[in-house]
Amino acid sequence: MDNNFDVVIIGGGPGGYVCAIRLSQLGLKTACIESRGSLGGTCLNVGCIPSKNLLNLSENFYKAKNFHKIGIEIDNLKLNLKKMMENKNNSVETLTKGVEFLLKKNKVSYFKGTGSFKSKDEILLIDNKKKETIIKTKSTVISSGSKPTHFPGSQFDEKLILSSTGVLNLESVPKKLIIVGGGYIGLEMGSVWSRLGSEVHVVEFMDHITSGMDREISNEFMKILSKQGIKFSLETKVNKILKLSNSVKLETINKDGKNNILEADKVLISIGRKPNTESLQLDKIGVKLDKKGSISVQNNYETSVKNIFAIGDVISGPMLAHKAEEEGIAVAEIIAGQSGHVNYDIIPSVIYTSPEVASVGKTEEDLVSKGQSYKVGKFPFMANSRAKAINDTEGFVKILADNKTDKVLGVHIIGPHAGEIIAEVSVAMEFGASSEDIARTCHAHPTFSEAVKEAALAVEKRQIHS
Ligand code: FAD
Ligand code: NAI
Repeated sequence: MDNNFDVVIIGGGPGGYVCAIRLSQLGLKTACIESRGSLGGTCLNVGCIPSKNLLNLSENFYKAKNFHKIGIEIDNLKLNLKKMMENKNNSVETLTKGVEFLLKKNKVSYFKGTGSFKSKDEILLIDNKKKETIIKTKSTVISSGSKPTHFPGSQFDEKLILSSTGVLNLESVPKKLIIVGGGYIGLEMGSVWSRLGSEVHVVEFMDHITSGMDREISNEFMKILSKQGIKFSLETKVNKILKLSNSVKLETINKDGKNNILEADKVLISIGRKPNTESLQLDKIGVKLDKKGSISVQNNYETSVKNIFAIGDVISGPMLAHKAEEEGIAVAEIIAGQSGHVNYDIIPSVIYTSPEVASVGKTEEDLVSKGQSYKVGKFPFMANSRAKAINDTEGFVKILADNKTDKVLGVHIIGPHAGEIIAEVSVAMEFGASSEDIARTCHAHPTFSEAVKEAALAVEKRQIHS
């Protein structure tokens, strides 16, 4: 094989493989190196996809347990966790193979192995049989992603001390699961195991869950999850994790200085992720990192070394698959001489719990801290006819609009299908919509998205149904 390329991408996750496809579409000879043995990165293999599969299956199980309340009676409902995990593994395999097909279709060369810099324009590939190959390239895109942060002094063993990867692969339902960190992973995986029968206890050191989220939504979210049976200890610090033969003990201290011992079958550590840079030999070529260990890049994603670019979780910003994908496309277009661009003001985020939580743009706290004058429109799903028709009425839509211009600055939704509804407002915001634009747009009836229209009407206090 001819190992000379226009661009080599290190890492085949959502950032890397999307970038590779776009580069190839633009006529550049492209290679993608991936070390884990399958494409799709954290997202497809041990992140977005397996977690959403288990969220869906566990929700079905939970709903089925409650079907008798709505006139559907099932005898002998049982959980078959092994089959559930097989279903999850199959969806992962289908999607990762799909990405391999897409690379082939787009004529991207796929190398299995670990890539590192031998020089600025030479990548050393070491495959799983330790065979070494040198790949020459004019430009390189680093998209090596991120990995879970472990608790200080306690490495993951994936038996008692679990990372997000271990918690997606349990062979039995833990009686008691402690989760350190009330963020995305803690709340999604806490929901999964709680629905399947675990007693779930989340320990969070802030005074609220989902830090960075609009506070009103975060408070409502915690109320709903508590009602579902998840226990929370806020403003609580874990000092130490002790492993016993078949369980764990956590020494904690709360804001009043009160010590406590928590015991559980397993503990999930979900306190954030850190950039994955160790295997790349960046110091050999002088690629600089920032204080948090992310690769520093300029506006065009170029690192401190010319023609070496970085995107996705390995650079700063939200660690989200769609953010990595957008950057993958933008950097490909920049390398090809076009003007790729990502609008960081409009990156939606979704937590796939029940109900879902979705946000785009500024939170109320962001606007207050900037001294920006704004109006708020809110509408509860309790007053939405579709939600009422299917007994799914928790949550609300909140729209924040500029006080003078009426431009929509942020939208926050907790409620049924929030993760789908948020796309409507993201598009509206990309087009610079005002709340009146949304309010005057005809929405089909009966749909959950009518709650968005009503919240937009509520910005000027003229909602119809509440
Ligand atoms: P990654 O997906 O991490 O891919 C990087 C790849 O590079 C990896 O496969 C790695 O093996 C490879 N690699 C690293 N170093 C080398 C090397 N030297 N040589 C060769 N290959 C290398 N985001 C969402 O938007 N929605 C979700 O629902 C969601 N759910 C998640 C659930 C969980 C449990 C987790 C852990 C994450 C979730 N995320 C979600 C986050 C999402 O997975 C990441 O933001 C996304 O995968 C980042 O993409 P990336 O391409 O930057 O990196
Ligand atoms: P996170 O940043 O979402 O949440 C971490 C939480 O842990 C925070 O609330 C933080 O205050 C808390 N924390 C940190 N250290 C702590 C400590 N020592 N003790 C107690 N609490 C502590 O990180 P998480 O959940 O690990 O997820 C990592 C990233 O993966 C997310 O930020 C997100 O970018 C991505 N992800 C996205 C998903 C989605 O889009 N639906 C789903 C899962 C992950």
